[in-house]
Amino acid sequence: MKKLLLSCLLLLPTLVLASEGIALQHANNDVYDKASLQNGAKLFTNYCMGCHSLQYSRFQRVAKDLEIPEDIMKANLMFTSEKIGELMTIGMRKKEALSWFGVAPPDLSVIARARGTDWIYSFLLSFYVDESKPTGVNNLIFKDTAMPHVLWELQGYQMPIYEEVTDEEGKKHQVLESLEPINPAGMTDEESKRKQDDYRRTVRDLVNFLDYVGEPAKFQRHYLGIWVLLFLAFLFVFAYALKKEFWRDVH
Ligand code: HEC
Repeated sequence: MKKLLLSCLLLLPTLVLASEGIALQHANNDVYDKASLQNGAKLFTNYCMGCHSLQYSRFQRVAKDLEIPEDIMKANLMFTSEKIGELMTIGMRKKEALSWFGVAPPDLSVIARARGTDWIYSFLLSFYVDESKPTGVNNLIFKDTAMPHVLWELQGYQMPIYEEVTDEEGKKHQVLESLEPINPAGMTDEESKRKQDDYRRTVRDLVNFLDYVGEPAKFQRHYLGIWVLLFLAFLFVFAYALKKEFWRDVH
């Protein structure tokens, strides 16, 4: 038995290492942060909806949940749709998409549940220059993705930094070590850091919005949960008082 435990313990690090791909960065988003969700919705409709739909969401529901006035929603977040009650679908046809990208951009309604928020966050932070690709970029998290770096204006481009490692047979390999922002001439390190921090916040808001879209009922469920807990707390006071009353005669 001891031996078995010991071998399990020894195996553990190899298992961890085997399952360890590229570490994801934490999105740390908060679906109760309305300002972040509003910004996320604006970013999504401006930068993503050219290619990706949210076929189960309606503009009106999003406006209501995120407390965006309908006229602002219409003016700033709706480009192809006329009516606020419409579903957030897009005009791009599958056949055209296939000929442009080789893959149709998927609907992103449940992407936060399918991939997880950390994955989307890391994906949007990990585009890097790769001249061999038709889009001019590759991605550390989603290798050889057909998606272009659509947020390049906000982040800029990143260079891959490779490191040479020697394997057990003595062969040398280039392994991607990290990504480094390519800064325009004259940009100081501090300005560059600020730009990357701003970009991280932008991506967090986008991921936050996709998290909300994946489960819009989360709001209602949590609010209901709070009421239920308050009710139970209230009931406890009465139950306790009642118990005291009953036991008074017994003691
Ligand atoms: C110019 C078109 C285009 C735009 C704009 C675009 N995407 Fe994409 N996106 C694609 C394509 C094409 C794919 C499929 C990539 C693949 O399978 O290789 C994709 C895939 C994705 C995926 C991965 C889906 C999966 O298969 O798991 C995510 C997440 C994503 N996009 C998010 C976004 C977000 C967020 C935005 C807005 C900031 C955005 N995309 C804007 C074209 C686009």
